[in-house]
Amino acid sequence: MVVLVGPMGVGKSTVGQLLAERLGVVYRDTDDDIVAEQGRSIAEIFVDEGESAFRAIEKQAVRRALAEHDGVLALGGGAILDEDTRALLAGQRVAYLSMDVEEAVKRTGLNAARPLLAVNPRKQWRELMEARRHLYEGVATAVVATDGRTPEEVTQAALDALELKEA
Ligand code: S3P
Repeated sequence: MVVLVGPMGVGKSTVGQLLAERLGVVYRDTDDDIVAEQGRSIAEIFVDEGESAFRAIEKQAVRRALAEHDGVLALGGGAILDEDTRALLAGQRVAYLSMDVEEAVKRTGLNAARPLLAVNPRKQWRELMEARRHLYEGVATAVVATDGRTPEEVTQAALDALELKEA
C-alpha cells in the first residue's frame, strides 16, 4: 500500500491514479468514499454539519480504507489533523506531495468546491500550511515536491523516493 497525503489541489488524485497504473494496483480516495457513503458532496457536509462533523466522518472513512485497501490510497488534505489517524499511518509507506503557497493559490484559489478556501485564498493557504506542514512531514516516509512538475514527473519522483518498482 502507498498512502498519499498533502494539501488539497496538490494533485493527489491525478498522481495517485498514475501511480496505481504504474504499480499495477487499484487507486482509492477517501473523499470519494465519503461522498459515496453519504450521498452528498464534501461541501454539502461542511455546510450542513460543520467541519468537526466532517472530520469525524472522515476519520472513520480513513480507518476503513487503511484496513481494507491494498493499492494506492489518497487521503483528504485535512485527514492528518486527527491524532489517531496519524498513529494509524505509522508503519505505512506515506508520500507527502508538497507545493509552495504561490503554487497552491494558482492551482486552487478560485475553486469554490473547496470550502476551506472560499475567502482570501492566499492568507488561508499560508495559515493552513503553517498549521499542517509539520503534520504532513511527520507522517511521511517520502516528501515529493510538485512545484513546476507535471503529474507524470511527480509520479516518477514518488516512485523514486519510495524506492518502488513498477509492475
Ligand atoms: C480538505 C481537503 C479536501 C476535503 C475537504 C477538506 C482539507 O480533500 O477533504 O474539502 O481540510 O484540506 P482534498 O485534499 O482531496 O481536496
